[in-house]
Amino acid sequence: MSRIAYVNGRYVPHRTASVHVEDRGYQFSDGVYEVCEVRGGHLVDARRHLDRLERSLSELRIALPMGRAALAAVLREVVARNGVKDGIVYLQVTRGVARRDHAFPAPGTAPSLVVTARRADMAAQERLAEQGVRVICVPENRWPRVDIKTVGLLPNVLAKQQAKEAGAREAWFVDASGHVTEGSSTNAWIVTGDGRIVTRPAENGILKGITRAVVLDAAKALGLVIVERAFTPQEAYGAREAFITAASTLVMPVVEIDGHTIADGRPGPVARDLRHRFHTFAEVS
Ligand code: PDD
Repeated sequence: MSRIAYVNGRYVPHRTASVHVEDRGYQFSDGVYEVCEVRGGHLVDARRHLDRLERSLSELRIALPMGRAALAAVLREVVARNGVKDGIVYLQVTRGVARRDHAFPAPGTAPSLVVTARRADMAAQERLAEQGVRVICVPENRWPRVDIKTVGLLPNVLAKQQAKEAGAREAWFVDASGHVTEGSSTNAWIVTGDGRIVTRPAENGILKGITRAVVLDAAKALGLVIVERAFTPQEAYGAREAFITAASTLVMPVVEIDGHTIADGRPGPVARDLRHRFHTFAEVS
């Protein structure tokens, strides 16, 4: 089955799908995106992803390109046309196409909308989760509005590449006060020696992850103790467990941070259990 993308009102072959050279997403990173998990052909937590999309757009004063129901229908159509059972659907909205000028284009300029979908290798993901992943820490160098899910991801790209070159899967940003903010494309968590689940509050310095929200719901329902506070890399080195969360990786155990083995170097029971139970707490539609 050949891949299909949705580009500004048309379903086109993925191979040749393109946007205009003066799309403001291309020129200024003037746009936002969402990544939503697809499981069994269904969208996972679409409502929360669309809520966050609307918030990101309103923070940047970009109009929603179509109503929510229509947008959800496009997401489903792209998933179906690509035959994706398990994977992700990607959605990007930019401020549209206009002659290059930093200030906003004329009112009425239509936002651009692109949607793609792709399969994930579930078996490979599970093997990775059985092993756990390595993380390195890097200095935070992003703008303060990381709560907006913009396509401006250059610091994230450089951090991820640095991690890759160091043999790790993720880089955790560390802010000026020495606390972990989040990963380059994931939220960061530890479990303390006394079994508390610790993650940074979503007020500042991080993207309010949808997977994070579901994991918080799950942890509460399971009677686990959650503390929303920042933690340092040093605390994480000595943690009982560590893990990362995102729509693309779900709950992924971390077994090494900056060369320090976490506990016995194997995925811990809390992360394993939360991964295992994740979909009983996520919304499927
Ligand atoms: N990334 N923090 C950052 C910086 C992210 O880019 C992401 C998601 C998350 C986790 O958010 P959620 O649980 O809603 O996926 C946290 C997506 C998957 C990406 O850029 O591919």
